[in-house]
Amino acid sequence: MAFTEKQEALMKDSWEILKQNIPENSLRFFTIILEIAPAAKAMFSFLRDSDEIPQNNAKLKSHATKVFKMTCESALQLREKREVTVSDTTLKYLGSVHVKNGVIDLHFEVVKEALLRTIKEAVGENWSEEMGCAWGEAYDQLAAAIKAEMKQEP
Ligand code: HEM
Repeated sequence: MAFTEKQEALMKDSWEILKQNIPENSLRFFTIILEIAPAAKAMFSFLRDSDEIPQNNAKLKSHATKVFKMTCESALQLREKREVTVSDTTLKYLGSVHVKNGVIDLHFEVVKEALLRTIKEAVGENWSEEMGCAWGEAYDQLAAAIKAEMKQEP
């Protein structure tokens, strides 16, 4: 699917807003993930040993930021090249890190829902259906590439 300039711009604008408060938005993102799928807690090294979701945890912020940022980068690629391309080494790493930690395809739906809800809350009145669709589409294509790589893992 080709992305329009408008779709990419909608994503960029919302990422600019989200980026202004990474600690809070990362926390919100993981809170929603665990609301939908409480069992996911056991997979994350920074969640499994504490009762509460840690505030301002570097690894938590890193995962949240990577998911948001890589989805944004996918949008740019969808507009320029009509497909999502992740470098081979990055994709290999992403495939193995997720298989190793027990991630399955279904988890990608949970993270997609959490991503969309986090953005919707963060951008407030700037939210639109079109913005949500753009994020959803870019995320789906990125997730498909990671899931395909996960299937290549031994
Ligand atoms: C680790 C990216 C989806 C669970 C990682 C890492 C990256 C990454 C780059 C390496 C650690 C880091 O740099 O933070 C992504 C991207 C995703 C995605 C881009 C989707 C587009 C998911 C999903 C799950 C998941 C759906 C399961 C709910 C994990 C876990 C780790 C990890 C458990 C190990 C973290 C730790 O314990 O330190 N991911 N991820 N990821 N990811 Fe993902």
